[in-house]
Amino acid sequence: MRLTISIGTRPQLIKISPLVRKIEKEDGIELQFIDTGQHYDHELNKTFYDELNLPESKFLDIGSGAPGEQTGNAMIAIEKELIKFDPDLVLVIGDTNSTLAGALAAVKQKIPLGHIEAGLRSFDRRMPEEINRIIVDHISDYLFAPTENAVKNLSKEGIPGDGIFFTYDITVDACLENYRIAKEKSKILEKLGINPRGYILVTSHRQENVDDEGNLSRLVNALIRIKKPVIFPIHPRTMKNLKKFNLLEKLQENCIIIKPLGYFDFLMLLKNASCVITDSGGIQKEALILKTPCVTIRDTTEWIETVKLGANVLVGLDEKKIVEEVEKRSREEFHKSMERIRNPYGDGKTSERILRILKSQKEMER
Ligand code: UD1
Ligand code: UDP
Repeated sequence: MRLTISIGTRPQLIKISPLVRKIEKEDGIELQFIDTGQHYDHELNKTFYDELNLPESKFLDIGSGAPGEQTGNAMIAIEKELIKFDPDLVLVIGDTNSTLAGALAAVKQKIPLGHIEAGLRSFDRRMPEEINRIIVDHISDYLFAPTENAVKNLSKEGIPGDGIFFTYDITVDACLENYRIAKEKSKILEKLGINPRGYILVTSHRQENVDDEGNLSRLVNALIRIKKPVIFPIHPRTMKNLKKFNLLEKLQENCIIIKPLGYFDFLMLLKNASCVITDSGGIQKEALILKTPCVTIRDTTEWIETVKLGANVLVGLDEKKIVEEVEKRSREEFHKSMERIRNPYGDGKTSERILRILKSQKEMER
């Protein structure tokens, strides 16, 4: 089988790594690994190749830009690589502009397409990711759904059931495999001089939160009211906007601001935090897996199981709610209640399941 995997951002490097490593060990699969270069800073890209033992990719260097320009440039560059390699199948993951570009390039070349993390919906079409997900799902041949709810979403939208595979979530594979290594390797707590449960961890990069001055101010105002030390590894989009809106100094009054971290250090900080405040998709799940309470600064989530099970709460950018929920969820009783929550996202064997499905589909074609 000739297989192309096309990715482009930090979370995609992380989530695809367990599958790529398994594919490399398979005799019957020739892999073309494409990285659009949507994320190009060392801390968002190269760090993960090194830590996660990823093979060298074809780096397309499309960089940043207006959404149409970024998606279009990626699509043009991916198409050229697909024509050269002529794969039997293209696999994309998630909901970024790189995901959309890879999917469109594949279908326009009439190459079968598989989508990992299919069927997720926030039902908020203001998010660019929601549009990307819907389009990619509707043009995919193989839909690897991480939850039963994702399967239902796809069925409700009329997507034929024979292309839908319930595989659980590949984030679990990446998180569990790498947390084991992080425990051995990471010295981040010592480096930052902080103790387990002695700090709050924050990440934010969602366009709706950080590109708007009023919304970013609300987040900063909430963070400076938090009593415990706040550790904030900052995504470049957020850093750019904190500087643009003159909010960086104010934030530094109460927050330890650091560069984006590698996966081992980040998992270590997440596991040991009193609570995490985030608008990331992946971190909402990783927090549940590692049993750290989560406060999500969004009004909707596609990972609804985290909220239903009580591991996560949606607070939008309501300053009072952010502060109150962080205090409540940092308490010992709350941490005890987290211990009882069962992880609904699977057993860490999703990459195996996807690989088995790919191989059996190939057999059926013969
Ligand atoms: C993208 C995805 C988002 C995902 C996130 C993961 C889309 C629409 N958004 O958002 O779904 O959750 O990645 O982190 O695809 N920048 C740098 N260096 C980099 C990359 C970006 O400085 O290596 C800065 C640039 O100023 C750029 C901005 O960050 O304009 C935004 O980057 P972009 O890739 O467009 O979107 P993300 O916010 O990273
Ligand atoms: N992450 C990381 N270092 C950081 C922040 C996040 O390694 O400084 C990891 C995190 O553990 C998760 C992924 O990056 O696996 C989430 O990426 P991001 O929040 O950028 O994207 P999203 O999941 O929202 O698409």
